[in-house]
Amino acid sequence: MANLEIQTERLILSPLVRDDAAELFGYRSDPEVCRYQTWAPGSLDDARRFIDNLQSTPLDTPGTWFQFGIRLRAPRLLVGDIGVHFLPDESYQAEIGFTLAPGHQGHGLGTEAVNGLLNHLFVSLRKHRVFASVDPNNLRSIKLLKRVGMRQEAHFRESLWFKGKWVDDIVFAILESDWKTR
Ligand SMILES: CC(C)(COP(=O)(O)OP(=O)(O)OC[C@H]1O[C@@H](n2cnc3c(N)ncnc32)[C@H](O)[C@@H]1OP(=O)(O)O)[C@@H](O)C(=O)NCCC(=O)NCCS
Repeated sequence: MANLEIQTERLILSPLVRDDAAELFGYRSDPEVCRYQTWAPGSLDDARRFIDNLQSTPLDTPGTWFQFGIRLRAPRLLVGDIGVHFLPDESYQAEIGFTLAPGHQGHGLGTEAVNGLLNHLFVSLRKHRVFASVDPNNLRSIKLLKRVGMRQEAHFRESLWFKGKWVDDIVFAILESDWKTR
């Protein structure tokens, strides 16, 4: 698993490792970055524990999240992370979530990372459908999901209890057939 890499024009997606903890803690604890996220590290140790807990789970294990680091090719710097949730009950659908450090937003790197991951999920892992769940106020994420060709399928009203209140949830998805004919 250590040598699992997805390469794109400017990026390498590879599993998070313990040496990433300080960078991960830096951007994941930023209040703007974690505004719509369920997890934020409270300390560097939290970030280390998060990474340690990922280490033993191979990609495509039902019922788990697999977290890739998003790294610039040169210099090889961690600029974000992107996760895939392999559903517990069947193996043809997956959920994704993504985060970029604030200093690296606005350059298309998030779009490039999601495109690279979708390609891997559809072409190498033969998934049928990939979806993402997003807060309706998370406009940058919604723009990104539309840019990669995902389509809004649902808007659930007050369906999530999040940070002390009920919030809406929008679901975007893309099928393997959409990906092939994009
Ligand atoms: C979601 C998130 C990754 C989007 O970041 P982003 O920088 O808007 O997305 P990208 O990296 O794809 O960059 C796209 C922007 O770069 C611009 N851009 C510049 N060069 C570009 C290039 N070569 N290719 C594509 N876009 C480029 C685009 O025009 C776009 O800007 P715009 O939205 O002002 O039009 C980021 O806002 C984030 O990390 N948010 C916090 C975490 C979060 O909420 N995650 C979602 C959970 S599902």
